Amino acid sequence: MMKISVIGTGKTGGKVVEMLGEHLLHTFDATNPPTVDALQESDAVIIFVPGDAVPDLMPIVLESGTPAAWGSTGNEWPDDLDKQVKEASTRWVLATNFSLGMNIIRKSIEAISVGSNILKNPSYHIHEVHHVHKKDAPSGTALSWKEWLNKEVKVTSAREGDVNGIHELKVRTATEEITLKHEALDRALFAEGAIWAAEQLINQEELADGVYAFGQLFDRVTGLS
Ligand SMILES: NC(=O)c1ccc[n+]([C@@H]2O[C@H](COP(=O)([O-])OP(=O)(O)OC[C@H]3O[C@@H](n4cnc5c(N)ncnc54)[C@H](OP(=O)(O)O)[C@@H]3O)[C@@H](O)[C@H]2O)c1
Repeated sequence: MMKISVIGTGKTGGKVVEMLGEHLLHTFDATNPPTVDALQESDAVIIFVPGDAVPDLMPIVLESGTPAAWGSTGNEWPDDLDKQVKEASTRWVLATNFSLGMNIIRKSIEAISVGSNILKNPSYHIHEVHHVHKKDAPSGTALSWKEWLNKEVKVTSAREGDVNGIHELKVRTATEEITLKHEALDRALFAEGAIWAAEQLINQEELADGVYAFGQLFDRVTGLS
């Protein structure tokens, strides 16, 4: 049976721990840091620590040679990371957003972008809604949608109650309207995506050593490349 360890058991890593159930091996946090030996007992490790903790953890995770799914944000990865991971004879996947649904959206927006080239005078609007505590606007996700669409697009934001995150793209002409909507229902969605990615590292034996973006694994498995 696949055994996965978790580093960082806070809001997101805690969800991973809950969802892994009998597949959970070890858990680590700031007061109980991982050891190379313990990591080597695991088939993979899932890591949700703040970005500033990444430089301290990297050498231990590399030395263990254990496949790793990293969800940390706010850190800069070294330029030669792929080389370092290859030298450790292992495979890592990195993602600042582990939502599987968002990958389906990425592919859909790319199709909308190309397809709408033949529409007559289309207008584009991205609208995002988040809870009142979110500081940045527009959201990083809305900016990703804009990048994937690659068109002149109006982007608007609203802050309401405890909304986890709603993103909507509308493409409109004088005669028709397309709406694409994604709603995050539970932050467990990130845990779900990270576990899926760790499973790919474990099960896809033909995957070469090195660093993968989450989207690359998604495209590979779904064939949507
Ligand atoms: N990729 C994605 O899809 C995604 C989704 C959500 C969040 N994130 C990112 O994931 C990170 C964690 O977010 P969160 O909201 O779960 O944070 P959090 O609730 O603050 O939890 C952070 C966890 O990391 C542990 N930690 C901190 N420094 C450590 C170290 N040096 N060694 C081992 N463990 C350490 C903490 O341990 P203590 O409890 O002992 O302090 C805690 O368990 C952030 O960078 C966040 O932006 C990414």
